[in-house]
Amino acid sequence: MTDADLAKFNAAQAALDYIKDGMIVGLGTGSTSAHFVRALGERVRQGLRVKGVPTSEATRNLAEQVGVPLIEISQVTAIDVDVDGADEVDPAFRLVKGGGGALLRERIVAAASKRMVVIADESKWVETLGAFPLPVEVTRFGFALTQERVAEALRKTGCAGDEVVLRVSGKANEPVITDGGNYILDAHVQRIANAEALAAELQAIAGVVEHGLFIGLAQTVILGKAKGAEVKTL
Ligand code: 5RP
Repeated sequence: MTDADLAKFNAAQAALDYIKDGMIVGLGTGSTSAHFVRALGERVRQGLRVKGVPTSEATRNLAEQVGVPLIEISQVTAIDVDVDGADEVDPAFRLVKGGGGALLRERIVAAASKRMVVIADESKWVETLGAFPLPVEVTRFGFALTQERVAEALRKTGCAGDEVVLRVSGKANEPVITDGGNYILDAHVQRIANAEALAAELQAIAGVVEHGLFIGLAQTVILGKAKGAEVKTL
């Protein structure tokens, strides 16, 4: 394992402390969350009884492979704890999420959870959000117009950058389609001057399904290092 991967692994291991027998657990998406899902699978094999609510089809597949029992979100009234990664975390525990394109389900699961535990390698901790491009999930219909409105929102709220790019993948540069059937725009904001104002502006744009600014959701942040992990609580 590289040091970065080890740091993700250590954060995921430390998150197991928050999981108790009988809990319903939100399962995040991404490489750090994948470490957590595998670790949880190991605990299940040792007798822990939990049910997981996956935040993406990728996480659903992984959880099934490693034997974490799943439950549909429509079958639960609340989730005890959600364990998910992040692309950036600031000292107020505001997050940029969606690098893996799962932001819509990630927010629904986080919002339904009594506690959100963020697991990340320490490089994700930043003083100011924005170096990582901010993902915005948009409907395919009218996406170019929505792209314009998103760029306007960046300018209006004082972001350092206003380039907004449709996320593509593969040799053919096909647009990435999310689990919800939408497109992702990556907003190269460089530096977010006012995260709350930007979140409100983005939310108000017709065609925006979800954005990657998660504010007021995380209570605990576990920063993994090559050796051990640091737990921060608000
Ligand atoms: C997916 C996410 C991920 O949590 C985020 O991209 C971090 O991923 P990784 O753990 O691979 O660094 O928001 O939509």
